[in-house]
This record gives sequence, structure tokens and C-alpha cells, in this order.
Amino acid sequence: MARKIAILGGTGAEGSGLAFRMAKAGEHVLIGSREAARAQETARLLRERIGGAAQVEGLDNPSAAAACHVAVLTVPFSGVVALLKQLKSVWKPGTMVIDTTVPLAATIGGATTRLLGVWQGSAAEQTRELLPASVSLAAALQNLGAELLAGDAPVDCDVLVCSDDEKAKQVTFELVSKIPGARPLNGGTLENARIVESLTALLIGLNMRYKVHGAGIRFTGLPLK
Ligand SMILES: NC(=O)c1ccc[n+]([C@@H]2O[C@H](COP(=O)([O-])OP(=O)(O)OC[C@H]3O[C@@H](n4cnc5c(N)ncnc54)[C@H](OP(=O)(O)O)[C@@H]3O)[C@@H](O)[C@H]2O)c1
Repeated sequence: MARKIAILGGTGAEGSGLAFRMAKAGEHVLIGSREAARAQETARLLRERIGGAAQVEGLDNPSAAAACHVAVLTVPFSGVVALLKQLKSVWKPGTMVIDTTVPLAATIGGATTRLLGVWQGSAAEQTRELLPASVSLAAALQNLGAELLAGDAPVDCDVLVCSDDEKAKQVTFELVSKIPGARPLNGGTLENARIVESLTALLIGLNMRYKVHGAGIRFTGLPLK
């Protein structure tokens, strides 16, 4: 069966941008939402924008999670625990999850440039606790802004991929490579997501100080193109 990628919270800024890039690259995308009708509307708009044979469907989050091979988590940090508890018995063994979430204080009304303390160490490590052991996890894309994803231009940034599962890391690398201008980098184990998530708060501050919307990260000195 052809691979299906669910974007949970795919009606939002980050999720719809990722859905756009994935569907444009020929992936079959399932937009997930708390309301199926909202997901269907986002899917319709994306099909219209991409045209041709774009494969984008809209479903409620549990239906999208149940039907996918890879799920990308793009809901605000404040909604993650409830969503993952709802999905606990829904996942098929072998599903792969990519966590993009950042525990910004803004998610509970605080500053956009500060992080909340997370007991587990990072949003990604909290997600790990809430997924069945049969579901693998990579943390990535936390530093790739929604405005860049929504446009047609190459994004021009590095994407750190952190995971304790080699297959999840490999699949995430492959998907990130489908976004023009994005270079996946091996960010090491899942616990390094602590560092990567905190960089997002720094990038938001840079966006504000320089009055831009697309600050990103590039690493130099690596033996890579
Ligand atoms: N925005 C960025 O530039 C950016 C960059 C990197 C990473 N991220 C991460 O991506 C995630 C989403 O960011 P965003 O800016 O796209 O957020 P958003 O637009 O505010 O929310 C995304 C979607 O999540 C759903 N949602 C909202 N509250 C929810 C809740 N309490 N429980 C379950 N679902 C909820 C909504 O969809 P429905 O109402 O349709 O369910 C919404 O459209 C965040 O964790 C963020 O840290 C964002």
C-alpha cells in the first residue's frame, strides 16, 4: 500500500505548510483535525493550490492516525497530552511519529520567546512517554517556520533530526529532503531535542528583532552538500 502521511493539527500554520510541501512532492497526505470538516476544507484548498494529481484528504485526528504510516505532530504543546492519550489505542504497530512541537510559554499565554519546563526534558521526550512502544519517534522540524513552509520558494535551512530509532531517523531524513532547500542533519538521540526545541524560542526572538518571519539555522563545517 502506498505510504500515507498524517499531519495531526494539519489545519494550522505549521501543519498545513508541511502538508503543502509533502503533497507537492507527491506524498499522499491525510490532514488531521479535531473537526473532520475543518480538515476537509484545508485538504480541498491544498488540492486546489497544488493541482494535478495531488493526494490530500481531510479526517479527524484519530482516523488520520489510524490510517497512516507516518504521523507528524503539529498541534500546540498545550494540546499534545490530551491528543496522544486519545490516540493511545488507535496507532497501528510500526507507525512512525515525527514530533515538531515546541513547549513555548506562549502555548499557555506566556512569552513567545520563552520555553516551559517539561518534566521529561523536552516536548519530544514527553511524546515518547505517551506513545506505545510499537510506535517509533523522531523529533524534527521544530526550527522550520510556518511562513517558509507556506511559500513556494526553497526554505534554505538545516533540519536537525533527533531519534533513538534508526529507521525513524532515516524516514524523517527522506521526508525532510523532499522540502526544497531543507537539509536534514543527524541531531543524535531523542534527548537532544531539548537543545533543538530551545533554538526555536531564539529564532522567534530573531524574527522579532530583525522584523522578518523566516529566520532559520545553517551549520557550517560539515562534510555535506
Ligand atoms: N508555527 C511555526 O512556525 C512552527 C514552527 C516549528 C514548529 N511549530 C510547532 O508546530 C505546532 C503547531 O504550531 P502552529 O503555529 O501551526 O499552531 P496552531 O496553528 O495554533 O495550531 C495547529 C492546529 O492544532 C489544532 N489545535 C489547536 N489547539 C489544539 C488543542 N488544544 N488540542 C488539539 N489540537 C489543537 C488546531 O487544529 P483543529 O482546530 O483543526 O483541530 C490548529 O489548527 C506547535 O507545537 C509548534 O511549536 C510551529
